[in-house]
Amino acid sequence: MFNSIKNCHNFEDFRNLAKKRLPSPVFHYIDGAADDEVTYRRNTEAYENCDLVPNVLTGVKDIDMSTTIMGQKIDMPIYCAPTALQRLFHPDGEIGVGLAAEKFGTMFGVSSLGTASIQEISKLISTPKLFQLYVHKDEGLNNYLIDQCIEHNFDTMAITVDSSVGGNRERDLYTGFTIPLNLSLKSIMSFATHPAWAFNYFTKPKWELSNLNKHVTEGTNLMTSVGDYFTKMLDRSLSWKKVEDINKKWGKPLAIKGVMSVEDAKKAVDVGASAIMISNHGGRQLDGSRSPFDQLEEIVNAVGDKIDVICEGGIKRGTHILKALSLGAKACSGGRMYLYALAAGGQKGVEIALSNLKKEIERDMILMGVSNIKDLSKNNLRFRV
Ligand code: LAC
Repeated sequence: MFNSIKNCHNFEDFRNLAKKRLPSPVFHYIDGAADDEVTYRRNTEAYENCDLVPNVLTGVKDIDMSTTIMGQKIDMPIYCAPTALQRLFHPDGEIGVGLAAEKFGTMFGVSSLGTASIQEISKLISTPKLFQLYVHKDEGLNNYLIDQCIEHNFDTMAITVDSSVGGNRERDLYTGFTIPLNLSLKSIMSFATHPAWAFNYFTKPKWELSNLNKHVTEGTNLMTSVGDYFTKMLDRSLSWKKVEDINKKWGKPLAIKGVMSVEDAKKAVDVGASAIMISNHGGRQLDGSRSPFDQLEEIVNAVGDKIDVICEGGIKRGTHILKALSLGAKACSGGRMYLYALAAGGQKGVEIALSNLKKEIERDMILMGVSNIKDLSKNNLRFRV
């Protein structure tokens, strides 16, 4: 009975179901993080160390949870962050996630390491689309990706700046997770015990790194771990000057994804970015890094009136989103919050996950006594000491 997406009422339900559906190397790739995973846990705990203080009898009638980020109006204050390899988790992949996001009027991000092409996504999805750019050493590839996004009318772009070397993801070392999948005896055994996933994997069209495969063999024909891919392929010398050049070439709203300090938030304003995504890559890169929610207030105080501040990571509940908005975030984003749902039930699963969050935000706003997310403020919050 509990093995159905219809019985998934929250993040943990989807996580449990994804764990049952996915072979262990694939599950642990999504679920895992760097070193001791302290930052990964803290990303959620930070929300739990802060309490909401509701107001009552405010006459709440209609609820407006829409917001505008990077010039794009979205109907709910959370969107699907770009994440890699989605067709490995479920054949619906990026297209399924995009269609689910479209139903809820929210933005969705496509990773450079995505498994659907910029062109295909652009044809099928009409709601705001974000492309996440990993700046590679190969300048030709960077230009190709930006040109594809321009040609196919992507709305926004985010440059990820926290990944110039692979994070130490020890779960991937234990399971031997690579792209393409390493067909060792151990992994084949884990496929055999997950026949529904294996059926899809071996019978549906083979997935590929659709936006990279014309330029790189790593991850397509040449097996690599994601960590090694970052270390070998990405441009470690990426600098603010380079971000400025990309911004000029792109010419549409640009976000810097992975900003954690006030100094960098100010530099993002100086290079003309439209948004910063406060993010530690879901705890998958620098373990021990502070959580986005813990950093939010000082960053909003410094640049909140000049740039859209987006709080990413650790979000499991509508109340987490309301807490981030109360501190001045314009919106939140999450990866695992929809990836487990994708793995558990494809597009339908993602729709249920987004619907659960939307209902929670709506209920929580009513209980907080606010009809518009603009009415949320620091006065609604108390931090535990
Ligand atoms: C990861 C990348 C690919 O964290 O975003 O695995």
